[in-house]
Amino acid sequence: MLRTHTCGELRRKDVRRKVVLAGWVHGLRVLGKKAFIDLRDRYGITQLVLDEKFRELYEGLTRESVIVVSGRVVKRKEPNPKLDTGDIEVVVENLAIVSKAEPLPFELFNPDVESTEETRLKYRYLDLRRPEMHRMLEFRFRASMVLRNYLSMLGFVEVETPYLSKPTPEGARDFLVPSRTFRGRFWALPQSPQQYKQLLMVSGLDRYFQLARCFRDEDLRKDRQYEFTQLDIEMSFAGEEDVMKVAEGAVAVLYAQLLGIKLKRPFPRLSWRDAMDRYGSDKPDLRFGLELEDMDAAGDIRIFREIVKGGGVVKGIRAPLLEKPLVKRLEELARSEGFPGLAWASFGEATKGPIASALPDELRLKEGTLLLLGGEWQKVVETLGKIRLEMARALGLQKGLSITWITDFPLFEVTEEGSFQPAHHPFTAPKKGFEGQLFEELSREELLNIPARAYDLVINGVEIGGGSVRITDPALQERMFELLGISREEAREKFGMLLEAFRYGVPPHGGIAFGFDRLLQVMLGKQSLRDVIAFPKSKSGRALMEDAPSGADPEQLKELGLKA
Ligand code: AMO
Repeated sequence: MLRTHTCGELRRKDVRRKVVLAGWVHGLRVLGKKAFIDLRDRYGITQLVLDEKFRELYEGLTRESVIVVSGRVVKRKEPNPKLDTGDIEVVVENLAIVSKAEPLPFELFNPDVESTEETRLKYRYLDLRRPEMHRMLEFRFRASMVLRNYLSMLGFVEVETPYLSKPTPEGARDFLVPSRTFRGRFWALPQSPQQYKQLLMVSGLDRYFQLARCFRDEDLRKDRQYEFTQLDIEMSFAGEEDVMKVAEGAVAVLYAQLLGIKLKRPFPRLSWRDAMDRYGSDKPDLRFGLELEDMDAAGDIRIFREIVKGGGVVKGIRAPLLEKPLVKRLEELARSEGFPGLAWASFGEATKGPIASALPDELRLKEGTLLLLGGEWQKVVETLGKIRLEMARALGLQKGLSITWITDFPLFEVTEEGSFQPAHHPFTAPKKGFEGQLFEELSREELLNIPARAYDLVINGVEIGGGSVRITDPALQERMFELLGISREEAREKFGMLLEAFRYGVPPHGGIAFGFDRLLQVMLGKQSLRDVIAFPKSKSGRALMEDAPSGADPEQLKELGLKA
């Protein structure tokens, strides 16, 4: 070994011991005839004392150089309570500079000096030197261990599934990989292991899980990366209650073991309809109130009369008294969502707002601001949902912890182009009792009202996981494809293996997948997924450190039969 101890290890009991330490020069101070070096490694910092005879060496020493020293542990005259090793220091007898560091491209340890995220990502290996980043990587690793232990205890088996695969229908674009051997053909990287895990149920594995890398080519956001990790779970002879119980256990054991927080179980549940109606979102942030309420009484106000006659709704939020600039911002938000504006009335020392005088008595507040919006239900609740969040951000209400299941999702949703798509994915079963209905001639309205056996887990307004009980009846699955406008040929081409597998004895099954990175982001209270991934892609979707994506060698392209 190059060292006898780490930089976080030595204590009072080690005084007089001869030691060898190695690490990075965290800091260097020269005081008269002595020099002091803070030597750092993953485990901590130890102070080194050097006398005059090392002057030549330490004068040329730069911060972040790697050195190895041997010396003797002595008691410090004035202990440093900020360091675990603060009771001692090491008087250096030998010093070797192993690797001299050039000036760093950015400041690593001074929180007062901000560096751009671009720079941090370009030099990620340096950014990851910071203790806070080590803690994140350790937390992530421990989380994976806790989950693996918990699930293996319950009889789950981790199985790796292929990366080189076929397109998967999770609603994003696929990443394609050209095949050299089969020219003009492509592999697709899996958006999730969905079909493989279902096939493992056909294989009788009964209980599968995987910390699985997934690939989705979609526009990046704070909570989206091209590649991310799922905790993916599938169970046979199980219904939604069984899956939800295992999932709750996994989240609870993580919070308990990693954060010391005991979560109350079972987690509360909210139907999709209620979530939309009361919070305007299928991933509601329940850390604060500001609920959406029916404001039928406002239907008499001139601006809402026609809307209500036409089958629209009027909904609103009773907020605390809001400052004018915030109200303006909320009005702007309503406009950007296609509403002519936002009706509001403030009741404070004076009564203000465009609809204040027209409001019926029952809607007047003692103190506060009433916000009203009228129109088609879905559009109204979604916009009020955004307004609710914007208000909470402005008022600093997003504190604490809230966990909820969202259940009874609709089976279908309508795309902006007006076609049907699965709200979850096309393998999700309709709620019990609705199977037969799917084979009838149904209107658009009726179809949209069919509930699915699907559930999402939401923490602090972030969709952490989602899953469903699957269709296992091939006839029902084919009908589902038909309703989604997927032809027989297309279904066979895309999902042939699953459809065929189901002909040879398939157990009823269901599962769930958690966004592992998102879960860590929420648990650690981080701003972005990039803060919980060792080597993430940048905001604009590039790998800045590797400088990828990059061009390809013409020879390589030729071999693949491609032209750029
Ligand atoms: P779904 O598509 O809902 O379900 O994904 C499950 C969870 O994965 C996380 N997630 C993401 N995290 C980071 N970046 C992304 N681009 C990204 N996309 C999704 C979310 C989400 O809740 N096969 C199904 C699961 C099942 O039915 O069992 C699936 O993938 O937290």
